This record gives sequence, structure tokens and C-alpha cells, in this order.
Amino acid sequence: MTRPTNSIHGEWSSRWAFILAATGSAVGLGNIWKFPYIAGENGGGAFVLVYLVCIALIGLPVMMAEILIGRRGRQNPVNTLKSLSSEENASSTWRFLGWIGLLAGFFILSYYSVIAGQAMAYVFRTLSGVFTGVTADGANSIYQSLTGDPERLLAWHTVFMVLTMVVVARGVKSGLEKLVRVVMPALFIMLVILVGYAANTGEYFSQAVDFLFVPDFSKLTQESILIAMGHAFFTLSLGMGAIMVYGSYLSKSSSIATMSVTVSIADTVVALLAGMAIFPLVFANGMSPDAGFSLLFVTLPIAFGHMAGGALFGGIFFILLVFAAWSSAISLIEPAVAWLVENKQISRRRASVTVGFAAWLLGLLTVFSFNIGEGWILFGMTMFGLLDYLTTNIMLPLGGLLIIVFAGWIMAKNSTQEELAIRSPIFYYIWRILVRYVSPIAIIIVFLNKIGLVG
Ligand code: PHE
Repeated sequence: MTRPTNSIHGEWSSRWAFILAATGSAVGLGNIWKFPYIAGENGGGAFVLVYLVCIALIGLPVMMAEILIGRRGRQNPVNTLKSLSSEENASSTWRFLGWIGLLAGFFILSYYSVIAGQAMAYVFRTLSGVFTGVTADGANSIYQSLTGDPERLLAWHTVFMVLTMVVVARGVKSGLEKLVRVVMPALFIMLVILVGYAANTGEYFSQAVDFLFVPDFSKLTQESILIAMGHAFFTLSLGMGAIMVYGSYLSKSSSIATMSVTVSIADTVVALLAGMAIFPLVFANGMSPDAGFSLLFVTLPIAFGHMAGGALFGGIFFILLVFAAWSSAISLIEPAVAWLVENKQISRRRASVTVGFAAWLLGLLTVFSFNIGEGWILFGMTMFGLLDYLTTNIMLPLGGLLIIVFAGWIMAKNSTQEELAIRSPIFYYIWRILVRYVSPIAIIIVFLNKIGLVG
């Protein structure tokens, strides 16, 4: 199988378009909703430190590997891995790695859309002023009234999924760039303002900074290390082919290393800002940092309910969050849609509707996990918890591991060197040592550690 020189889906208009799209994919619910709550559940500082180390030592090299594989293969992840493995005289079994990714993206989208739907519902709640003067208990019961109502959750889940399908059907390149160009800076400014607001809480702000940045290693468990690593993959959209498929639309001349560093830094800064906006409110209102997935939805509304113009400001904040989730959801479904278009010769429109509808159906499990299906427990988790655990902590790190093994051990040195085109040989060698040894060994140790085989 020979590889095409261009993607049939076209190319990004510029290097910036790629950076924007990849940042749009990376920055989403993972940064603003998920990072604060898992940091809270896992004890703060030490967890955050492990997460940051994982971003630098595993996330960044994996991102470079994904982009280079995508750009070289120029097709959806399954076909890309098939043609690159035949070019490198390796087994075509590597295409299954593409399959794991397609499946992970589909699973993630199913629950991602439900949470994004909750954020949509919050746009209207916030704008309506229900949070004015709200207390922690009040905010909590407003959240419960939303999640306890399967019909409402279902309606918002449906709206969000349809929006995602519409963009993907039209081709991700046309609208995405414009959307992200406006949304990302605006979201960033909003978060900075919220951190400024939180800073007014004085002692609680320093308590939050200590909580997030002073590591207490006694709080670190094998489980929390796995969660920190899984989140590094989730937040950077790695291990399932989203960044790979975006890489396949990238022109040859752009520097993969610089772009990966830019995207990773932007993503990390947004997550840390979200943490610094949320935790001071947690402490100032006597709430518990380990409140779980409701954390974002019960803390920020308290701030919006007490600041001048908070209803409008909060409404805009949730609108931006929905947009950020939207640009991530698009990248979750793109690999599967590209696969259908390339292999089944169906139109983009039909492909997006097919994948979107299937993910919507699976999403019902998550919708019900918050209410009538709260008691459907498997392996000690709700259906939503299980889908999240399986994808984030197992499928993405496993996919990422195989991706770097492919880039570091299967692809010839010449191939990766040519694709990365890093001018300084030292940087190329650092990357190569990371993908061949450091990152795979780290991932394997975390896995073995978790199942109790080492450590
Ligand atoms: N990175 C996205 C976020 O943090 C989620 C995502 C995961 C998107 C995997 C694509 C692939 O919200």
C-alpha cells in the first residue's frame, strides 16, 4: 500500500490554522471541568506535579509522534498506520492501533456530549439570574435538579451532538479556524478575570495555591498516578488519533516541534487558570475539594451570583466553554468520519450522521448515570464513570504507548528525522530517546504499578 502525497480532505490554510485547530481540540471540558475536579479528588499538589511531568515527558513527545505519523500517512489513522507499516516493512497488524483510537474517540464523545450539554443548560440558567446571591447548598441543588432530570439532559445532549455533526459534515477546516481564533483568547481572558476575582478572597486564594502547587506526596496513590497520566493524554487529545488526523491535513513545511510545544503550553495554562479560579471559591465557601464532577457547576455559579453583572458574565463564560467543548468534540469524531469517507466511499455528511448518531445512542448510558441509572454499577463505577475510566486511563495511554513504539522502534530513523526536520540534531536525539525509552518505560511502569506488579 503506497501512501498518498496529499490528504483527500484538503489541507489547513496555514501553520496557524493547524495550531488553532489542535488547540481547539486540546482545550475543552478536560481543562475546565475535569482537571479541577480530579485534582481535587486526588489531593491537589502532588497530583498536579505528576500531571505536569506527564505532559512534558510523555504528552509532548507523543504529540510530536502523532503529528508526524499523520502528516506522513495523509489518511485516517487506520489507513495511515497500514501504509506506514508496509512502507517500513512491519506487520500490518499495526492498523489495529488505529481501530483502538477510533473506538476510544467514539466512547469519549458519547459522554463528552452529555457534559457539554450540561454546560449549555448552564448558559441559560446563569443568564436568567437564578444564581444571584446563591449559597453553596443552593448551587448544589440547582445542579442536582438538572442532572436528576433525564429528559432535560437528553435534550441538551441531543442539541450538542447535532451541532457537532453539522460542523463535521461540512468539513472541519472551514469553520473551525474562525471559531477557535475568537473563542480561545476570549476564554483565556475570562479565566484571568475569574482568577482575579478569586484572588480577592485573600487567605482562601493562598490556601488554593498551596493546595494546587505544594505537593504532599503522602496523598499520591498508584491510582492517582494513573489518573494523572491518563489525564495528560485526555487533555492533549492524544492516544486516539485526533491529533494524528489533524496532522494529516498539515502541509510539509511546518515545524512539528514548535507547534506541539505551543499547543501543550496553551492547554496547560488554561487548566491551571481554571484550577486557580475554582479552588479559592471552594475554600471560601466551606466546600470540599473532592466534590467530584459537579465541582465546576457548583463553584463558579457562586462567583457569578455575587459579582456585579455576574449573570451576563457567567452566561458568556458558559457559552465560551460550550464552544471550547465543541471544537474538541469535532476532533473526537473526525478520525472515524475520515475512515468512513476514505474506505466506504460515503459522503462526509452521511459519515458524520452515522458516527454522531451511534455516539448519541451510547451517550444515553451517561445521561442515565446521573439519575435513573445511578445504581447501574459495574466494577464499582456508574456507566459514565466506567466509560471515562476505560477510555482515559486505559485506552488513551495504551494507544499513546503503541504510537510512540511505532514512531521510535518501527519507523526508520531516517523517516522520523525527515518528517520532524528539526534543525538541531540534539533536539532530535532528545525526542528520540524520549519516544524510544523514557516515555514507553514510564507508561509501562505506571500500568504495572497500578495492577500491583511493581512498586
Ligand atoms: N482534549 C479534550 C479536552 O480536554 C478532550 C479530547 C480528548 C479531545 C481526546 C479529543 C481527543 O477537553
